[in-house]
Amino acid sequence: MADNYLEKRYDELFNTPRTKVKHVGHPIEELLRRNRSFRGYNKAFVVSEDLLQRIVSVCTRIPSARNQQVLRYRLVTKGAESEAVLNNIHLGAALPELHLPLQGSEPEAFIVICSTVAENRMVDIDLGIAVQSILLRAVEMGLGGLVIGAFDADAVEEALLLPLHPILIVAIGKPAEQIELVPILEGDSQKYYRKNGVHYVPKLVVDDLILKH
Ligand SMILES: Cc1cc2nc3c(=O)[nH]c(=O)nc-3n(C[C@H](O)[C@H](O)[C@H](O)COP(=O)(O)O)c2cc1C
Repeated sequence: MADNYLEKRYDELFNTPRTKVKHVGHPIEELLRRNRSFRGYNKAFVVSEDLLQRIVSVCTRIPSARNQQVLRYRLVTKGAESEAVLNNIHLGAALPELHLPLQGSEPEAFIVICSTVAENRMVDIDLGIAVQSILLRAVEMGLGGLVIGAFDADAVEEALLLPLHPILIVAIGKPAEQIELVPILEGDSQKYYRKNGVHYVPKLVVDDLILKH
């Protein structure tokens, strides 16, 4: 019921039915739609260090405050190090009953991001630009990822013998989840949920994102 109502409302607000948007086929639209937060991966696909390096290479072409380029990236592939990272991250806090990641679909490759200077507003803005660029590149390559802010930074720093304090982690892998976006209006629940094996992510419609005059 709610889904149909919201779809209709979405189309009314934009006057551009979602199916029509899809047919336009802007690559960025498609990439953004497919770039979801995946918490389950197909472990038959092993992410190599070379793949991670190709993904991180996008960070040689992104904006940076005062062009300081303070972010550094530690590549972690399947093995003892990835297990150490896995043991110190927290996934899907909004769905605690599921204890994500589900056994057998855990992420096994990570990009651990550090900064050469103490974290501040500009570093965090650089960080946001970097992780979204990384994720879009991963999606373009047929992979997917998850930004992980909930992790034990001290434990990860120690396990990986990092020379810098980690400030964010991105998991990378072959997604094994079906995720759909659901348009919502201001005031509706923004909590993601699962139904019949599908993960739904509510997103505000553009009309509710734009401040009125
Ligand atoms: C800065 C940041 C930190 C996040 N940290 C976590 C995390 O620690 N664990 C997790 O499961 N998801 C984390 N997420 C993923 C968000 O929950 C996800 O982006 C949100 O539910 C919307 O889903 P979507 O990315 O598919 O649009 C994080 C996302 C961002 C941007």
